Amino acid sequence: MHTVRTVILGCGGYLPERVLTNHDLAKMIDTSDRWITERTGIKERRIAAEGELTSSMGAAAARAAIADAGLVPDDIDLIILATSTPDQTFPASAVTIQAELGITHGAAFDMQAVCSGFVFALATADSHLKAGLFKRALVVGAEAFSRILDWEDRSTCVLFGDGAGAVVVEAQKLNGAMTDRGILATCLRSDGRYRDKLYVDGGPSSTGTVGHVRMDGPEVFRHAVTKISEVIDATLTQAGYNASDIDWFVPHQANKRILDGAAKKLGLDPARIIITVDKHANTSAASIPLALSTARADGRIKTGDLVLLEAMGGGFTWGAVLLRW
Ligand code: UT7
Repeated sequence: MHTVRTVILGCGGYLPERVLTNHDLAKMIDTSDRWITERTGIKERRIAAEGELTSSMGAAAARAAIADAGLVPDDIDLIILATSTPDQTFPASAVTIQAELGITHGAAFDMQAVCSGFVFALATADSHLKAGLFKRALVVGAEAFSRILDWEDRSTCVLFGDGAGAVVVEAQKLNGAMTDRGILATCLRSDGRYRDKLYVDGGPSSTGTVGHVRMDGPEVFRHAVTKISEVIDATLTQAGYNASDIDWFVPHQANKRILDGAAKKLGLDPARIIITVDKHANTSAASIPLALSTARADGRIKTGDLVLLEAMGGGFTWGAVLLRW
């Protein structure tokens, strides 16, 4: 039996030049490198330069991903940008990326599922490609969270950073076996009862302002490990795999303690977890493709490896994607 699989052809990442370390933050607010490191694993984050936008960071990551795939922009006919920090309320920043890449065919749109955005966007691209609507998609996660942080709120401003990552995926007719390359299973969830646990206190239809990030950190933390484990179990079950089969676990990079907790609950080998949160903090929808780019560039993820992605964030939203690279 043949089936269409969504296969990753390339990936790329982009981080702004300016580094803001925990020590820098300790000079600005009442915090310390020790507190941030112990509670989160974060050492530094990047801050977008003046005039540097979500779309420009996204376009830089997209160019790197297209080059890594050995393609040219014209080969892409679908762009999905996962972001909660678009350049403007509308148009979608995805169309700005499309224009910057010089693509004039196909479709481009934004997707908003906060920190789960990349997983939601990749699963959506998978559905569109499997349905035969498009041939090659660019899935981008790009965020300028520094612009929506309250820099006087130490409980949130130390946690986030700016950056972008992207993957290029292609619809390929394969065997339909779980040994195929490509996306093998996805699971997306949300529960709006928790929408006030991690949110932005402004928006076009409420305040007419952009607003700032607000979070009940301990409450998000309390739900994170359980919810992440739930979608990972569902995804592995769908594909008929066990946690021990996973070559690389690439989680959303929010807090090292959450990653360690989820890995422990699932019995995953800690050496198989890709961790980049120390280098760029929580970049929301950009964190998974940034981690993928790092692990591809340093040779850890190889063609044929079984890779599990997962994320949880505002909404709450959470989800997982199992794929063979
Ligand atoms: O992407 C998905 C969304 N985000 C997450 O996954 C984040 C989930 N939550 C977390 O990662 C953690 O809850 C935090 C890292 C945000 C906080 O860690 P915690 O261990 O849950 O600490 P806490 O909020 O319970 O705060 C403990 C103490 C408090 O002081 P008191 O009341 O015990 O005296 C805070 O005021 O730490 C204090 N605190 C800080 N101290 C130094 C809070 N922020 C800071 C800070 N520096 N930046």
